[in-house]
Amino acid sequence: MTRPLSVGVAGLGTVGAGVLRLLRDNAELVAARAGRRVAVTAVSARDRSRDRGVATQGLRWYDDPVGLAADPAIDVVLELIGGSDGPAYKLVHAALEAGKPVVTANKALLAVHGAALAQVAEQHGVSLAFEAAVAGGIPVIKALREGLAANRIDRIAGILNGTCNYILTAMREHGREFADVLADAQRLGYAEADPSFDVDGIDAAHKLAILAALAFNRPVDFASVHIEGIRNVSAVDIAFANDLGYRIKLLGIARRTPHGIEMRVHPCMVPQSNPIARVDGVYNAVVAEGDFVGRVMLEGRGAGAGPTASAVVADLVDLAHGRRAPVWGMAGEALVQLPVVPMSAHEGAYYLRLMVVDRPGVIADVTAALRDAGVSLESMIQRGRAPGEAVPVVLVTHETNEGAMRAALEQIARSDAVLEPPALIRIEPA
Ligand SMILES: NC(=O)c1ccc[n+]([C@@H]2O[C@H](COP(=O)([O-])OP(=O)(O)OC[C@H]3O[C@@H](n4cnc5c(N)ncnc54)[C@H](OP(=O)(O)O)[C@@H]3O)[C@@H](O)[C@H]2O)c1
Repeated sequence: MTRPLSVGVAGLGTVGAGVLRLLRDNAELVAARAGRRVAVTAVSARDRSRDRGVATQGLRWYDDPVGLAADPAIDVVLELIGGSDGPAYKLVHAALEAGKPVVTANKALLAVHGAALAQVAEQHGVSLAFEAAVAGGIPVIKALREGLAANRIDRIAGILNGTCNYILTAMREHGREFADVLADAQRLGYAEADPSFDVDGIDAAHKLAILAALAFNRPVDFASVHIEGIRNVSAVDIAFANDLGYRIKLLGIARRTPHGIEMRVHPCMVPQSNPIARVDGVYNAVVAEGDFVGRVMLEGRGAGAGPTASAVVADLVDLAHGRRAPVWGMAGEALVQLPVVPMSAHEGAYYLRLMVVDRPGVIADVTAALRDAGVSLESMIQRGRAPGEAVPVVLVTHETNEGAMRAALEQIARSDAVLEPPALIRIEPA
């Protein structure tokens, strides 16, 4: 049999320890599929004495992960440390420069430095593989780059952050507010102590930037993603969404338009009949639309030791066979600089909820502001009639332009009858 593939693992946290466990438990199966054994021979983490629930005795230990890049006995470097800069960047850069293939689960690193790192990989003729970086165990990178390689992709939409999907699902099922559900999620370990990367949409935006680069063969461009998180989604909007036949989901959407590429992460109203509306809890899903294949949807666990290790080891199996795909689906020089459409030019329908004083003329003023901005209404719901008290008014618009909607909102917010900042949620048809 061919000699084993020798792997150096940097980072022995959730994912790193998961990879070691998978390679131990499924050693025979992986060896048969890879055509050779896949053996971890060296590791790096900060704390040498920590119990990781998996044996590391007999493996070479590096206090500085960059040492793995220079170890002549290592064939592949696994970067499972995390962070867009610091030791993760230094290690990946050094390994590629040394002509060693790299497998990483690090979406932040790829979203920010993916274009430059791909150039280094290409110059040295080595792989930079990252199946685990987007949607954990769902093989979406391979699906987009290889399985759908024959198609022009026009749109990608995904539930890309399990923490947000868990919170939105729990808010809907129990009629609770964001802050309460977040506190529970933190207690249960579904949300980090500092949840901002997840709930403010940054993690989903890192993943969307990666998917958009693959789908449109455009250099990865995190800075151009429009990002809104879920902190402002309230229980009352989730209940109205339900009444109107929608679910609220945090989606990452990348779309080809006649004017360029849209890349946006924000809460969306999705029709309940749409399969992605029924993806609940910590599950992720990605929908891709290709010109020949039509619509493809992949669903599964987007995080956790097992699913993420599954994706990392799939990349190792490719490397064991010597299979190498271009990092972003085609050679760097063939990537296309399509323009990015700003959010102000977005076209779509909107859900708008206002809390207004229930007095004559208020609704007329609101609808006049929308009319003046050229926004036409599809429907309106007004609930509760206690004179002088705040009542919710929900308006659903026909397709309009984000700029027009913002102009109308500015005018509406000036009225002393509008008591809270308006809630605005974009409606995503599918
Ligand atoms: N967790 C998931 O479900 C998941 C899913 C998909 C992708 N990812 C990505 O996978 C990567 C790892 O995530 P994780 O959840 O496994 O993180 P984690 O549990 O925090 O583990 C990070 C590991 O990196 C090590 N480390 C940190 N700084 C280091 C340094 N300077 N030198 C050497 N080692 C260092 C830590 O060492 P010590 O243990 O000694 O502190 C730890 O073992 C991240 O890029 C993350 O975005 C994670």
